[in-house]
Amino acid sequence: APRRTKVYEGKAKILYEGPEPGTLIQYFKDDATAFNAQKKDVIEGKGVLNNRLSEFFMSGLNAIGVPTHFIRRLNMREQLIRSVEMIPLEVVVRNYAAGSISKRLGIEEGTALPRPIVEFYYKDDALGDPMVSEEHIIAFGWASQQDLDDMVALGLRVNDFMSGVMMGVGIRLVDFKIEIGRIWENDYQRLVVADEISPDSCRLWDIETGRKLDKDVFRRDLGNLADAYTEVARRLGVLPRNA
Ligand code: C5P
Repeated sequence: APRRTKVYEGKAKILYEGPEPGTLIQYFKDDATAFNAQKKDVIEGKGVLNNRLSEFFMSGLNAIGVPTHFIRRLNMREQLIRSVEMIPLEVVVRNYAAGSISKRLGIEEGTALPRPIVEFYYKDDALGDPMVSEEHIIAFGWASQQDLDDMVALGLRVNDFMSGVMMGVGIRLVDFKIEIGRIWENDYQRLVVADEISPDSCRLWDIETGRKLDKDVFRRDLGNLADAYTEVARRLGVLPRNA
């Protein structure tokens, strides 16, 4: 394979320089980590599934006018993306209580929330990605008030799209996380959905059975993670039904 310049390596993905200025190649690894990388494993095929699923969600968002970094899939494990300036925040949108909100606020998992709740977490592995308020974000200059408003709006638009798509295949979108980047166009910046959208960063529950079809299968040792992601991909028509 031709030698490429690695720009960044994270827990589940690698970024390489892209073929044209302003582009990058995003490579999906098979590595799975949880609890800030205290739990680790290699799940054969996960990278291939997440590359396809992230392509599916991001191209769907592009098509309805929600801007993302996604340009096109290149091969089984790689996609061409726009290079963006990442905002150091994770945007979590929740429709049902699960995970950290259940723990923090004592709400039973599966409880429907009165409306979608948007939360921000500061991306810092050493600190374990602490939740932060809009006050912190403005005071420490991680984003402007305008950025914050745009991030909430993006989160809610992604939620509407993803909830509908998943509902259509019998899956409840419990919650998800997105990351957002800035693209500069002349002197004007706009925010786009970046990173990935995959079962690694969503909670997806089968509506009929409650079966978990997301990374909680790995976090909580509930079975085979690749099987769960394959089920999501098949239902969405991203993989042939016999794959
Ligand atoms: O753990 P918590 O309940 O806060 O997670 C909310 C949602 O955000 C889940 O879908 C989880 O998979 C996702 N998440 C993530 N990356 C993190 C933290 C949470 O994708 N670092």
